[in-house]
Amino acid sequence: MNRIPIILDGDPGHDDAIAWVFAKASPDLDIKMVSSVAGNQTIEKTTYNMRRICTLLGIDAPQARGAVRPVTADPVTAGNWHGESGLDGPPLPEPGAPLSELSCADLMAKVINESPDPVTIIPTGPLTNVAQLLMLHPEVKRNIGRISLMGGGVTHGNWKPAAEFNIMEDPEAAYVVFHSGIPITMCGLDVTEKAIIRPDDFPRIRDVGNQAAQIVAGWLEFFYRYPMAIGYSGAPVHDPCAVLALIHPEIFTMKDLYVDIELGGEYTRGATVADFKGGLGKEPNATVVLSIDRDRYIDLLVDALRTFDGWEVPII
Ligand code: BDR
Ligand code: CA
Repeated sequence: MNRIPIILDGDPGHDDAIAWVFAKASPDLDIKMVSSVAGNQTIEKTTYNMRRICTLLGIDAPQARGAVRPVTADPVTAGNWHGESGLDGPPLPEPGAPLSELSCADLMAKVINESPDPVTIIPTGPLTNVAQLLMLHPEVKRNIGRISLMGGGVTHGNWKPAAEFNIMEDPEAAYVVFHSGIPITMCGLDVTEKAIIRPDDFPRIRDVGNQAAQIVAGWLEFFYRYPMAIGYSGAPVHDPCAVLALIHPEIFTMKDLYVDIELGGEYTRGATVADFKGGLGKEPNATVVLSIDRDRYIDLLVDALRTFDGWEVPII
């Protein structure tokens, strides 16, 4: 089988970065483009982080700077989780490749329209870039195989009682994506808060020994502190679920459901409302991922990191 052509679109972000480790390591995925979006930090910071991660991991696909802010919502950043830089922790290499001269939506459209096989988009930040793509270039829908995203939660939120950060940040963009008719895999908090990496897992990750493993361990050592302080048992490493649901569906449970986005609501704006009982009478528009085998998750991270043996870039 051909490798699946993918676009990585995120707001790195420690867990976005680890999602990209899994994507780069997988023999089943072919990274065609990487893009940044404002979310965990400003677009300047997430773009700089994207470029440094691409150098670190040897991702040589074109890179685009994405949306500066949500479609209509007020921007919010997540410095409490990811630090001032958006990716606090160990030093990283500087950007290597230049950014694309095309806008994010134009580069996405070019990659999708020129691909012989349907492209899968993996958004791990607010859905602003994907919504802009679908609004500016509606013809791309015919060659998007799936959108496998981290966002939402069918039982609860994290930033708000009913809203998860990525969807809360840009609910209008999420509405466009969930109403697009494109097959969606939704990795929300239902699964991603079970994708916990705990301090007692860190030595096994660090002991892989290569540069990528040392840096991922360093990211986790920063990233677990805030969630531990607010009651999690480790770091909920959300975003890799959106990659792994494609290539290792056997470690997850999933259910096809109709999911809509709450755009109003005094307390519920940005909620992903899932119709478990079919009361809305609509066909499912999303495969909702509900749980993960956490032990296998850690094993797969260790396996992914081993693929970087022999790859090291200078950090000045
Ligand atoms: C999501 O918000 C961000 O802080 C993480 O990178 C993840 O994509 C979790 O709510
Ligand atoms: Ca993210």
